[in-house]
Amino acid sequence: MLSRSLRSRILVTATAVAALGLAACSSGGGTTPGSSGTAGGGGGGGDTITVGFSQVGAESGWRAANTKSIQESLTKENGFDLKFSDAQQKQENQIQAIRSYIAQGVDYIAFSPVVETGWDAVLEEAKQANIPVILTDRAVDVADETLYQTFIGSDFVEEGRRIGQWVSENLGTEPINVVELQGTTGSAPAIDRKAGFEEATKDNPNVKVVASQTGDFTRDGGKKVMEGFLQSNPDIDVVYAHNDDMGLGAIEAIEAAGKKPGEDIKIVTIDGVKDGMTALAEGKINYIVECNPLLGPDLADIIKTLDSGGTVERRIVTEDGAFDQEQAKEALPDRQY
Ligand code: AHR
Repeated sequence: MLSRSLRSRILVTATAVAALGLAACSSGGGTTPGSSGTAGGGGGGGDTITVGFSQVGAESGWRAANTKSIQESLTKENGFDLKFSDAQQKQENQIQAIRSYIAQGVDYIAFSPVVETGWDAVLEEAKQANIPVILTDRAVDVADETLYQTFIGSDFVEEGRRIGQWVSENLGTEPINVVELQGTTGSAPAIDRKAGFEEATKDNPNVKVVASQTGDFTRDGGKKVMEGFLQSNPDIDVVYAHNDDMGLGAIEAIEAAGKKPGEDIKIVTIDGVKDGMTALAEGKINYIVECNPLLGPDLADIIKTLDSGGTVERRIVTEDGAFDQEQAKEALPDRQY
């Protein structure tokens, strides 16, 4: 769960949202395109806030936990009418979903962008329709920052940095060959986690990245890419996987090659989902930096704050932990996802 302190930081002031040029208020049937219509039939009505959410896909355990958190937070009982779509990791599907939410006149649009670039046009359309946009989990690279209200999610550069520091201090005391399983090409976490790791290891000449390829954040992708790495690189010491699922796929490939994951080849990953934490506790992974997927309660708070005329911080960074094998054993019984 995100901490109370984080959630309370979202509720900043009761300044008019009009300052940002957007004035959606679903209660009482407003006159902007973002607030007209009836509850459940496109657009807000009465006290219900209609939210169109475009999810990246269902590529990982992290994503499943994130979807569950959003669906369990933006409920009818909590005052929301949630319209949810799964883009199957395709930007064109997300653009289509956002256009459909605009056409339906929803009160708010929230989405986790599959890649960083290519959003200017569709977000401009949302702005023209007076529909506030909230980014969850991943950032966008747009020329006009007023195209979205806020971005809530982890600091991916810091996650990569923390992995790099751990590798440098714990494994880089002698020369090591690292292979990197990157996330989806062009996505914020893939770009940032790579950059953070490079920054943290650049002054340690013992840490050498000998191969780096995308496994698209999936278990299957991680397994296939790792099989290729094992064939072309006889001396792999460490796998740096940008998420648990790819690390779990790498474990399968390493075991199939007759080697012991966590011992013959060390593995470090990011996320901290139950399957990853289980593999860490079993000694098959060596270190995990957490990426908290439980963004639903904060998303609900952000929307309610905006809807009542308040403002929120432009960037809300979620708090993430980190686990070695002993810490994973302790944390596992209470792990929520
Ligand atoms: O954007 C967050 C990343 O996306 C998670 O680390 C990964 O598991 C997911 O697919």
